[in-house]
Amino acid sequence: MSSNVTNIDDVLAVFDQLWAPRILATVNDWAVKIAKVRGDHVWHAHADTDEVFIILSGELDIARRDPDGETVVRLGPRDVHVVPRGVEHRPRSADGAVIILVEPADTLTTGDYTGPIPDHITATTGLIASRAGY
Ligand code: NI
Repeated sequence: MSSNVTNIDDVLAVFDQLWAPRILATVNDWAVKIAKVRGDHVWHAHADTDEVFIILSGELDIARRDPDGETVVRLGPRDVHVVPRGVEHRPRSADGAVIILVEPADTLTTGDYTGPIPDHITATTGLIASRAGY
């Protein structure tokens, strides 16, 4: 591994925690994060930024509360979807998925959500993948 090359498969091999994104790269003040997900996240919005979802494997359903009503966007492998700033959304994966997020580095996974954080979710701006050089 070159010191400036990050391999996605190597990062995925060093963690199993769900809904707890690891930082793959930072680009200026943005970050590319990768997460293993299963089950329901919480409804939340990001007031100051859009959020890009890229699906690597599995299926992710993103429920959205847009001005014209609630919809669910189903995403599969290699699908890319942008949730605009301010739009409430709730990601869910019944059978599990691996997803990449692209967003400002300080974006909190739970956004403006203020309720209790369920045990299977970590409220974080991204964790360092620290083992095996990650
Ligand atoms: Ni979000």
